[in-house]
Amino acid sequence: MQFFLDTAEIQEIQTGLDWGMVDGVTTNPSLIAKSGRPYLPTVQAIAKLVPGPVSGEVLATEYNEILTQGRRLSGLAENVVVKVPLTPAGLRAVATFKKEGIRTNVTLCFSAAQALLAAKAGAAYISPFIGRLDDVGEEGMELVDQVVTIYHNYGFDTKVLVASVRSPIHIIQAASLGADVATLPFKVLEQLYKHPLTDVGLDRFLADWKKTGKNFEES
Ligand code: G3P
Repeated sequence: MQFFLDTAEIQEIQTGLDWGMVDGVTTNPSLIAKSGRPYLPTVQAIAKLVPGPVSGEVLATEYNEILTQGRRLSGLAENVVVKVPLTPAGLRAVATFKKEGIRTNVTLCFSAAQALLAAKAGAAYISPFIGRLDDVGEEGMELVDQVVTIYHNYGFDTKVLVASVRSPIHIIQAASLGADVATLPFKVLEQLYKHPLTDVGLDRFLADWKKTGKNFEES
């Protein structure tokens, strides 16, 4: 399973890369707005830093404008994936981008029917938003289950990129279902490392050795 970071914060991305756990990055307009940085230069800076795919989202909703903005984003760096909303105009643009060799990540997916349309349009990635479905009382992970099954049934190349992740449980469930990628807020990546018994065990190991009064090299 690949891990992407869902952030526009350079420091978080650098830390995730140093840990060796970041295969790519996803951004969205909200995340870049929160960073306080300019739009295109931020996507470009992230794409330069990260060896893997970096999703940059169009701000347009009309077909021709989506094409213009998507081509601009794609031209920033070879590893930029154009993030497109799941609308008729968006999926029409996805099909055009596919013919041009531009990879897309279809965002704001909340149903299996929408995911099927995105695959038919030729999306490289589909982003089901799990946490936001949970927030409205639905079972977000059921959507991942359905999409993985449907894509498998028909041999679609579109990768399932689990988004709107809120906790380590989401990652474990998505991995159990065979999702290709999860995009994580940095906080969730940190949480994946944590277990209280690891901390307790490490403290005990170190304390026990300290009691001997010897150092690392001493026999
Ligand atoms: O990047 C898209 C998605 O991951 C957003 O997540 O937490 O705003 O629902 P969230």
